[in-house]
Amino acid sequence: MKPLRVAPSLLSADFAHLREEIEMVEAAGADLLHIDVMDGHFVPNITFGPMIVSAIRRLADADLDVHLMISEPGRYLSRFIEAGSTYVTFHVEAVGEASRLLEEGRRLGVKVGIAINPATSLEVAEPALEIADLVVMMTVNPGFGGQAFIRQVVPKIRALYEKRESEGYVFFIEVDGGVNPETATIAAWAGADILVAGAAIFKSSDPAAAFEAIKRAGLEGAAMRSDPKAFPLA
Ligand code: DX5
Ligand code: ZN
Repeated sequence: MKPLRVAPSLLSADFAHLREEIEMVEAAGADLLHIDVMDGHFVPNITFGPMIVSAIRRLADADLDVHLMISEPGRYLSRFIEAGSTYVTFHVEAVGEASRLLEEGRRLGVKVGIAINPATSLEVAEPALEIADLVVMMTVNPGFGGQAFIRQVVPKIRALYEKRESEGYVFFIEVDGGVNPETATIAAWAGADILVAGAAIFKSSDPAAAFEAIKRAGLEGAAMRSDPKAFPLA
């Protein structure tokens, strides 16, 4: 079994104190930071681009998981790689065919991922599963932090997990959106190896304790994975 990781999403961090925020989650045990890039076109919100990713690279020890919520990700892929991304993920909804771009990213030396919106079926991602290092299952509609976990996505996460196990694929499964100590258990049971959490960590009065609680809940869920009926899927 792959180790369970919690990736704090910096979207909910205080950018006026970014260094302290990063040091705090790293001290809590984070070795992967989730970075949400939004272009105001693919999603109705704007965040930041490669310059900020490069600044975060200089501040952090952790690996950087860069989630591109942008149209035409192929135009900017190399910029995000040069900025120091460890993983670069783009949305299957933003590209015609994901495989070519995944291969390009791999060739440029980064780990590559695809992200799948709540309403998008797994079939769309099918051809890319063999190539991807990471598959991000969105459990909110992308654009904002602090939204509620869409539980209806859980059967799709479980189906992806079962497909990975039966086909021998190697990608990590990441669950992104609305993860907190309550939803982490079912997400990890369904198959998440990486739990992204933004508001639940950075908006908490005790972020380190929140990180710990999500990790503990995730480990509990992962331990129940062999029981396909541990959670009702309907
Ligand atoms: C949503 C982003 C998420 C977001 C998660 O568009 O992709 O990564 O930061 O934040 P929470 O955990 O607050 O839902
Ligand atoms: Zn994200």
